Amino acid sequence: MAGGEGLKTLAVDIGGSGIKVMVLDEQGNPLTERDRVETPMPATPDAVLQAIVGLAAGKVFDRVSVGFPGVVRQGITETAVNLHPDWIGFDLAKALSDRLAKPVRVANDADIQGLGAVAGVGVEMVITLGTGIGAAMFLNGRLVPNLELGHHPFRKGETYEEQLGRAALDNIGKKRWNNRLERAIDLLERIFNYDVLYLGGGNTKKIDFVLPPNVKIAPNVTGLLGGIALWRD
Ligand code: BGC
Repeated sequence: MAGGEGLKTLAVDIGGSGIKVMVLDEQGNPLTERDRVETPMPATPDAVLQAIVGLAAGKVFDRVSVGFPGVVRQGITETAVNLHPDWIGFDLAKALSDRLAKPVRVANDADIQGLGAVAGVGVEMVITLGTGIGAAMFLNGRLVPNLELGHHPFRKGETYEEQLGRAALDNIGKKRWNNRLERAIDLLERIFNYDVLYLGGGNTKKIDFVLPPNVKIAPNVTGLLGGIALWRD
């Protein structure tokens, strides 16, 4: 055990534009500030691993949780639409564990955001608004992993991610993006009939309409705080 009381977890969030880290105590409370570097371009596994090793340097921790922007199964990254094709089939858990000499667990970034946000009651859904569009679903706190809603058709022959991701926001501006988001929420409510929908990710700060009462904004830090849940067996 590395100093202090209880096991310390280095929570890592790999995003399309930034890589963030924070050390959490055993209860999942932050022990450090959030540190961030720009995601290297091209975002190959090697470049991203190096960035994480750089962020981890000088920090004290016993284990690592990683949120990855793609499908993750048993530590292996299966898709990476906004990073680099070399991630497909990459054993991220093992590669990072080899570099940091600590045990590593990896999950989809929206799943981790959700694990940090949900109350554990009823049907709770999470949508993350960032470079890509992430999604997660929970029933009484139990996660259905790797819900890739972002790549499904939404409107005008385009997916949720094509209509609402960062590139679309840059392209069409805040006003139209907000209109689209309002439509998406309306549609999602009718499909999934969730009790609560949480919106996460950096672009939640661009929202400028009044959200329905069952839609809440999850603070950005939940994308890191949720990492503790990967170590609750
Ligand atoms: C990926 C998801 C991810 C989301 C947010 C999408 O492009 O396919 O797995 O959760 O971006 O990063």
